[in-house]
Amino acid sequence: MKTIRVGLVGAGFAAKFHLESLLQAHGVQVQMTGVTSLRPESRQAFGKQHGIPVFNDIPSMLPHVDVLDIVSPPAAHEEGMLLAAERGVGIICEKPLTGYFGPKGCGAEYRGDQDPKGPMLEKVVKGLTKLAATIRRSGVMFGYAENFIYAPAIQKEREIIEKSAAQVLRILGEESHNGSGSAFYGIWRYQGGGSLMGKVCHPLSAALYLKRVEGIKRNGKPVRPRSVTCRCEQITRLPGYQDRGFIRTKYHDTEDHGWMHVTFEDGTVADVISGEIVLGGIYNYIEVFANNHRTRCNLSPIGMVDTFNPRNEQFKDIYTVEKISTKEGWTAISPDENITLGYIAEMQDFLTCAAEKRAPQSGLELACDTISAIYAAYLSDERKGQEAAIPLV
Ligand SMILES: NC(=O)c1ccc[n+]([C@@H]2O[C@H](COP(=O)([O-])OP(=O)(O)OC[C@H]3O[C@@H](n4cnc5c(N)ncnc54)[C@H](O)[C@@H]3O)[C@@H](O)[C@H]2O)c1
Repeated sequence: MKTIRVGLVGAGFAAKFHLESLLQAHGVQVQMTGVTSLRPESRQAFGKQHGIPVFNDIPSMLPHVDVLDIVSPPAAHEEGMLLAAERGVGIICEKPLTGYFGPKGCGAEYRGDQDPKGPMLEKVVKGLTKLAATIRRSGVMFGYAENFIYAPAIQKEREIIEKSAAQVLRILGEESHNGSGSAFYGIWRYQGGGSLMGKVCHPLSAALYLKRVEGIKRNGKPVRPRSVTCRCEQITRLPGYQDRGFIRTKYHDTEDHGWMHVTFEDGTVADVISGEIVLGGIYNYIEVFANNHRTRCNLSPIGMVDTFNPRNEQFKDIYTVEKISTKEGWTAISPDENITLGYIAEMQDFLTCAAEKRAPQSGLELACDTISAIYAAYLSDERKGQEAAIPLV
């Protein structure tokens, strides 16, 4: 059995579920040979807890790994990807792939929401072009860790589209909850944006993926996105917003609600939404309206286990579902989110592809199309919803 040595960049929330899922892989032997992160305390603690060697930075870790798994904030993704590609090391990169994080060296005074979006889109496309060329030239395995692609519900819909030769006419999708727990979230210079970058990217990539599947099945080439209309809001910062303490409100310069209407090359459409203003646990779905069927893919809640708990404290040691703010009353429990949200399946695909030198289901072109569409959406929002072309890399 082939052994794949994996090194993690980042030791926070996503690092934990990546590690759990990497260790579930079968058919390949996974060896965790390194972890690095920005803060010495966090990488030391993570390394100690999981028995993984700790490195001060990516360059010193790279000689010890076959695949670099990047789970740091978006502003740090590109550096890791370029270093790995240049040294022939495979790459797994969390969403969103990369973006624009303000002028080099900018600090807390930078406000991405006020930065003109036309030049921003140009810089992003230039950066994506260079990144994609470097990764393609290197020939390394590249896995875009967009878990929606690998969620069993979305993979079932892929099978339906492929085997019934469906034409997808319209897609609806959403990822919402009551606000990220990451200290880097809500700050454009770390995240490259707000809800569009952090959350809409999930249903957006799933919609782009399903249209790719349809096109490849019918014509041997993906149907790609052409243009976008978008509106973003900062709802928790409205002067009249009444904070009851259930929804995160601390955003420096990013939107907390966003909607994108994407038109594809064939004229069909997708509407994807996200809000940091949604209570009741993480709310993720994709609905597909095709010429021969209609499918609702529920990623969360999934309706597998509904439990009623009259008193919060009884469940204090029981995990129920991501971003639920109470365990009292009825809860739609996700018994294993690593399965239902696609985390285990994505790691399996990436590791198998690294071992067999193949391209994963969720790859570079899908990741680049997602980012181009998001920054074209910011341009559209700046123009109060005027349609903007999506430059494809
Ligand atoms: N797919 C999903 O469902 C999902 C969920 C959460 C987060 N994410 C993604 O995972 C990534 C990390 O998010 P998180 O919630 O784990 O954040 P986090 O704040 O919990 O952890 C970030 C980690 O990265 C480290 N870090 C920060 N800057 C760094 C740098 N320059 N170089 C190296 N390490 C650095 C921090 O020290 C920390 O250990 C983001 O891209 C986010 O979008 C994906």
